[in-house]
Amino acid sequence: MRGRTSNNVIVSRLIVVVLLALQGASLVHGQVGTCVGFYSQTCPRVESIVRSTVQTHFESNPTIASGLLRMHFHDCFVHGCDASVLIEGTNTERTAPPNRLLRGFEVIEDAKAKLEVACPGIVSCADILALAARDSVFLTKGQSWQVPTGRRDGRVSLDSDAANLPAFNDSIDVQKQKFAEKGLDTKDLVVLAGGHTIGTAACRLFSYRLYNFTTSGNGADPTIDPAFLPQLRALCPQNGDRTRRVGLDPGSQNRFDTSYFYNLMKGRGVLESDQKLWTDASTKTFVKRFLGVTAFNVEFGRSMVKMSNIDVKTGTQGEIRKICSAIN
Ligand code: HEM
Ligand SMILES: *[C@@H]1O[C@H](CO)[C@@H](O)[C@H](O)[C@H]1NC(C)=O
Ligand SMILES: *[C@@H]1O[C@H](CO)[C@@H](O)[C@H](O)[C@H]1NC(C)=O
Repeated sequence: MRGRTSNNVIVSRLIVVVLLALQGASLVHGQVGTCVGFYSQTCPRVESIVRSTVQTHFESNPTIASGLLRMHFHDCFVHGCDASVLIEGTNTERTAPPNRLLRGFEVIEDAKAKLEVACPGIVSCADILALAARDSVFLTKGQSWQVPTGRRDGRVSLDSDAANLPAFNDSIDVQKQKFAEKGLDTKDLVVLAGGHTIGTAACRLFSYRLYNFTTSGNGADPTIDPAFLPQLRALCPQNGDRTRRVGLDPGSQNRFDTSYFYNLMKGRGVLESDQKLWTDASTKTFVKRFLGVTAFNVEFGRSMVKMSNIDVKTGTQGEIRKICSAIN
C-alpha cells in the first residue's frame, strides 16, 4: 500500500513538472502577458463592441474587411503588434510607402471611441486591431479563432522602420527570411499569405508582370496562365490607370476561402510574391496542403495567433492610448 501511494505521489509530481515545463515552453514562444479574455473583469463587452463596430462598417463597405486584416499584419511586422501603424503625423509608419494604401483606420477609431465610453482607459488600440482582423475574417465567411489580448500601445512610429515589410516582388528566400525574423516559419508564411483570399491590389504593384517582363514570347511573366493574361491586361492596360484595383484572388475576392491557393496552382496569382509560392518547391508543398478547407482554416487561425503575438508590449510597457491616432 505504502509503495503504491508514494508511486502515485511521484506520478502526480511528475505530471506537475511536465505541465510546468509545457507552460514554460509556451512562455518562451512569446505568449507572455497576452491571454484569451484579458479584459473579462475590466471590460467584459470588449469583444462584442469591436465585433458590432466592424460589422456596421462592413455592412456599408464590405471591402473594409481586407483593409483591416492587412492593417493588423502591417502593425505586427513593425515594432510588434502595438498599434504603431495607427499614429498620424509626418514621417510616421502610416506615411511609409508600403502603408499608404492601408484602409480601415476609421473603424478602429470608432471602436476605440465606443470602448472609451464603456470602459475608459482600459483597452489598447493594438488589441482592438487584433480583434477587428479576426472579425473581418469571420465576416467574409472564414473560420473564427480566439484572440489572446493584453497588448499595450507603443509610443514609437517611424516611416523608416516600415522598410522590413515584405514587398510584392520579394523572392521566396527574402519572404522566408522576413517572416523568420518575426519567429514565423515557412508554413506560417504560406498560410498567412492566404490572407490574400480577400482584398485587392493596385495595378501599379503588378502590371510590370504583364508587359515587357521578358523580351521573348508575349512579354509577360511566364508563370502567368496564358488564358488569364488577357483578363489581367484588360483590367490594367499598359498606359492605363495604375491606381485601379484588381482582386488578389480573382473570382472570389470577397470570400475567405481556399480559391486563392487554387488560383496559384493555375498560374492565376496576381502578385509576383504570391505566384512564387507555387514556383518554389518549399512553399508549393504548403500551397497544396491549404487547398484543403479544414487545413487552411485551422492553420490560418493558429498562425494569426502567432503573428498577433510578435513583440507584444504587456504589463507596464507602453501605454493605453486615449485615441488610436495619437500617442497620449
Ligand atoms: C508574403 C508577404 C506579403 C506580401 C509581399 C504582401 C503584399 C501585398 C500587396 C502588394 C498588397 C496590395 C496592396 C494594395 O494595392 O493596396 C497586399 C494586399 C493585401 N494583403 Fe498582403 N502581403 C503579404 C502578406 C500578407 C499577410 C501575412 C496578410 C494577412 C494575414 C496580408 C493581407 C493582405 C490583404 C487582406 C490585402 C488586401 C488589402 C485591401 O484590400 O486593401 N498580406 N499585400
Ligand atoms: C522591387 O521593386 C522596387 C520598386 O518598385 C525596386 O526598387 C526593387 O529593386 C525591386 N526588387 C526586386 C528584388 O526586384
Ligand atoms: C515594350 O516593348 C515593346 C516592343 O519591344 C515596345 O514597343 C514598348 O515601347 C515597350 N514598352 C515599355 C513600357 O517599355
